[in-house]
Amino acid sequence: MVFHVYEDAKSACEAGAVLMAAEILKRDDCVLGLATGSTPIPTYEKLVSMYQAGILDFSNVRSFNLDEYVGIDYANPVSYHAFMNENLFSKVNMKQENIHLPDGCTDEDGARYDKAIREAGGVDIQLLGIGRNGHIGFNEPCDCFPIGTHVVTLTESTIQANARFFSSADEVPRKAISMGIGNIMSARAVLLIATGADKADAVYRTICGPVTPQVPASVLQLHPCCTILLDKAAASKLG
Ligand code: PGA
Repeated sequence: MVFHVYEDAKSACEAGAVLMAAEILKRDDCVLGLATGSTPIPTYEKLVSMYQAGILDFSNVRSFNLDEYVGIDYANPVSYHAFMNENLFSKVNMKQENIHLPDGCTDEDGARYDKAIREAGGVDIQLLGIGRNGHIGFNEPCDCFPIGTHVVTLTESTIQANARFFSSADEVPRKAISMGIGNIMSARAVLLIATGADKADAVYRTICGPVTPQVPASVLQLHPCCTILLDKAAASKLG
């Protein structure tokens, strides 16, 4: 695990775009693992600007998103489908058939998603944000590390954290479907970006604490190729 600390959030996020761009330049049909949330928005903006400048071509790039709410209308602007369209897919030349997000409508959907990832040859680089409780994707603190894509019941802290995107906390869906820790650990490279003082504790426990499913991101200490990009505020407890 390596980590880099940047002066501000924008620089940390843009460094993340550079790492993802390098994957696309190495292999034009690379498989990106994508994340939603506020954190990676500047990363997507930078990727879009590199596409617009003619530096990157997304025509053969394939992608698998980490997660999605269950039971949400994908046209709803707070769905992760809508987020990805808004921030990346509608702005680069990715082909619709190369874009994948999990769907939690039936019990078999998780296994089907895992099979699709395997058939694509696995994820080359998995982008991650982190929750204040150390979650990655919707893998919340619990007693064991979930392996494959699965339906989860959101914790109260995640519902409250995500309520800012809805008109009230009551409207936040109670369930989501998420890649498991096994999926994330199977990616050939992992890129976690954390910015802001409210992530400092989770970052400290991820990097310096014991590996425990109570801090899901701590498992990344065991990944052979994990890069963590931080702004000064998120790194403030690292000493
Ligand atoms: P955020 O979410 O980027 O909106 O803070 C990250 C996460 O909860 O994984």
